[in-house]
Amino acid sequence: MSAAPALPLPPPLLDNLGAAQLPVTLVEGSGARVYDDTGRGYWDFYGGHAVTILGQGHPRWIAAIADQAAKLSFCTTMTPTPIRTKAAQSLCDFTGMDVAFFVNSGAEANEAALKLARKLTGRPVIIAMEKGFHGRTMGALGATWKYREQHAPAHGDVRFVPFGDLEALQAALGPDVAAVITEPVQGIAGIVEAPPGYLAAVESAVRTAGAMLICDEVQSGIGRAGWPLLCMREGVRPDIVTVGKGLGGGFPVAATLMTEAVAASASPGEHGTTFGGAPLGCAAVEATLRILRDENLVSRAGRLGSLLKIALGGLDGVEVVRGSGVWLGLVLDRPAKPVQMALLERGFMVGTSGDPKVLRLCPPAVLPESAVGALSAALGAVLEAE
Ligand SMILES: Cc1ncc(COP(=O)(O)O)c(C=O)c1O
Repeated sequence: MSAAPALPLPPPLLDNLGAAQLPVTLVEGSGARVYDDTGRGYWDFYGGHAVTILGQGHPRWIAAIADQAAKLSFCTTMTPTPIRTKAAQSLCDFTGMDVAFFVNSGAEANEAALKLARKLTGRPVIIAMEKGFHGRTMGALGATWKYREQHAPAHGDVRFVPFGDLEALQAALGPDVAAVITEPVQGIAGIVEAPPGYLAAVESAVRTAGAMLICDEVQSGIGRAGWPLLCMREGVRPDIVTVGKGLGGGFPVAATLMTEAVAASASPGEHGTTFGGAPLGCAAVEATLRILRDENLVSRAGRLGSLLKIALGGLDGVEVVRGSGVWLGLVLDRPAKPVQMALLERGFMVGTSGDPKVLRLCPPAVLPESAVGALSAALGAVLEAE
């Protein structure tokens, strides 16, 4: 009897637990262009999951990280460093919040936010929004609408209400509620906007109930939606704001921002992390915020958003364009996935979303205006051909 054939070895890298793979291998980038291993170029209208707000390889960003690496590459967060203090100051100046705590990812920023709110109020319940997304670690997942069923029982005492429904929120806001966590506009759900004034009304309802407002600006913040923080559009100042993605311009870093009052009642050891607040990440944050300011990229993001809305909103097959800045959801009259793949073949990288009919655009704020017309022509041709 011959021996059973050996099973093929699995590849050494498990790459698709988070997302399905696109059929290209990227090796280089410059500005809003990325290049695959055959040398083919693509306009990057996805920004690496809404991260690369400065585009690829900004020379001042590279220099800041290289300088810091040469000076002090890593040290414990038990000792202060000038670059961490400088990054925190820049981030508070940029966002109007009082205090920054650096962590590694958006999910971790939300973990810290949820822990702080429960500890400081002494209340157990978190209110989160249906279809909202806050990350895939257990606490953040407990407040995330999608994905948590796969890992039931989800963590935490979380009450879900429909996004945009103020009455439902008010009914859920009992004396046991520590915090309401919400994105100002729901990103992964498909750039879903609440009625105007909703976030401001949530803020006031939360204040009346003695709870805290946590705004998750991991995707919408740091200029992407045309504002330093999108909650500023409605004049809202949450107790806690979480930021990540674009914050390091591509360097993995995130932060939990808070008011002085929240920070004053937090104690050492509330949340801790080995790599959060490390010198290279902080150098990346400081450089990213300096470049955004010096090159007026937040207002440029806003202008690009208006141009994209005009260029794409009139195409046959596009029902509506939602969002602002370099953060848009194109609601199509058909499934978005085949359109995404057809655009990739034509040299445009775009994203999809939790809504199967919505394409998500998150290009860098340095995208040249000529790329807007190029995308419009390519999308028009794809929608006509389908
Ligand atoms: C609104 C929001 N919050 C949190 C997260 C989680 O961030 P990370 O993937 O860095 O953990 C994401 C990621 O897409 C997000 O969009």
